[in-house]
Amino acid sequence: MPEGAPAVSDQAPVAVCKSADLLEAGRAVSFDLVYGGQTCRAFVIRFEGQVQAYLNRCSHVAMEMDWQLDRFFDDSGRWLLCASHGAAYRPDTGACAGGPCKGGLIRISVSEVQGVVFWHPTYIARSLEF
Ligand code: FES
Repeated sequence: MPEGAPAVSDQAPVAVCKSADLLEAGRAVSFDLVYGGQTCRAFVIRFEGQVQAYLNRCSHVAMEMDWQLDRFFDDSGRWLLCASHGAAYRPDTGACAGGPCKGGLIRISVSEVQGVVFWHPTYIARSLEF
């Protein structure tokens, strides 16, 4: 199974934010999860009306991409940029679109139900347990 692909999980979907919090090609909403045993940040955005979520980890160097919190889109609103060295990713798929990326972003499964955005844990992407 490809990395980040949805899989059955024993954990329930986790609410991230209200749908209205995500404007088209606007600021992201970040959330924490445990990915492959490590606590990581992820982010959800809206692009072409759909919500998409990715691990906040550049494929060039495994570091977070937003120097300005929750700002991932370039000025055109067409690409997600890594602030470190300018890797560009497609907002709809997370695929590399240019720059030094070495593959795409890791996708997190999300849904939108009755005005609320949820992310869906898998066996590799787990919700934080307290
Ligand atoms: S760390 Fe993202 S482009 Fe280099």
